Amino acid sequence: MDKEIDWQSLGFSYMDTNSHICYTWKNGCWDSGELQEDPYLNIHIAATALHYGQAAFEGLKAFTCKDGKVKIFRVEENARRMERTAKRILMPAIPEEMFMNAVRRIVRENLEYVPPYGSGGSLYIRPLLFGSGPRIGVQPAGEYTFIIFVLPVSDYYKGGIEPVSAVVIDGFDRSAPNGVGQVKVAGNYAAGLEPGKIAQEMGYPINLYLDAKENRFIDEFGTSNFIAITKCGTYITPESNSILKSITNKSLMTLAKESGMKIEERPIQFDEIQDLVEVGACGTAVVITPVNRIERGDRIIEVGPKTGFGPVLGHLYEKVRAVQFGELPDNHGWLTDV
Ligand SMILES: Cc1ncc(COP(=O)(O)O)c(C=O)c1O
Repeated sequence: MDKEIDWQSLGFSYMDTNSHICYTWKNGCWDSGELQEDPYLNIHIAATALHYGQAAFEGLKAFTCKDGKVKIFRVEENARRMERTAKRILMPAIPEEMFMNAVRRIVRENLEYVPPYGSGGSLYIRPLLFGSGPRIGVQPAGEYTFIIFVLPVSDYYKGGIEPVSAVVIDGFDRSAPNGVGQVKVAGNYAAGLEPGKIAQEMGYPINLYLDAKENRFIDEFGTSNFIAITKCGTYITPESNSILKSITNKSLMTLAKESGMKIEERPIQFDEIQDLVEVGACGTAVVITPVNRIERGDRIIEVGPKTGFGPVLGHLYEKVRAVQFGELPDNHGWLTDV
């Protein structure tokens, strides 16, 4: 590392680290991977990823725990989700063991970039799998590249927790019911760029997607799942075949169930929002962002407290963070040593 990193002011932006790891799949098998310092790739002009979007990515984190050890949060879940994505767009699977070893190896190579315990930061891990072999007809590639790079990120809430407002941008869908919304295909995020920009220009940091068929049910936010607490204290989250199953959401549901809460994964109508007492957007980047205002057309729905978290989501947020930093016992085996 050339210079000292200010762990508090990192934000979420690309930075070079010691190396990334790169594997190639050819003739039916993966090679054993190589560490690379150069962040540039030499890629064929007819690679299927570039033309036909045969590409997928993942996002997960490693934390320096209270005992000083670096641990990775729920890496097997990301391995399985990448396998589901690969299958859906005809890319070769990455065996779970290979995925886990690759993640461990690249984190070990970049240990000095893992923010220290107490800074609130973490090492963001970005696996990327794409068709790198040439094809000019629309077909799967004959060669694939699997890369993992890492970058340190700071505590999102270092300035305090402020709820955000979300907006539904009518006229834009993220994914179709039988499309690829339930897997982490790169093109899903291209589809979200324009509505995301419109939302930003309107002053909304996040946008909420409704189901593409009827525009009546809640799907998810641009890059996070919708979670909410009802008046009866039930944890609800949409059941839909066009949303990405969030690993954070799965973890929150486990912890909520453990504290005796009722969980419902079911279709949630947009009109139900007005009766909810807490709403959050959940994902790896922030764990939970409280949402206290949702706008659609000329309708504005206020929900939850004006500042900070509501009590239930606040409690669940603290619990996940405490497990990630090794401050609470890892009862479910969510942490993997590097
Ligand atoms: C569309 C979408 N939904 C939800 C999530 C949250 O998923 P996770 O908790 O696994 O990060 C993400 C982030 O990966 C996402 O891109």
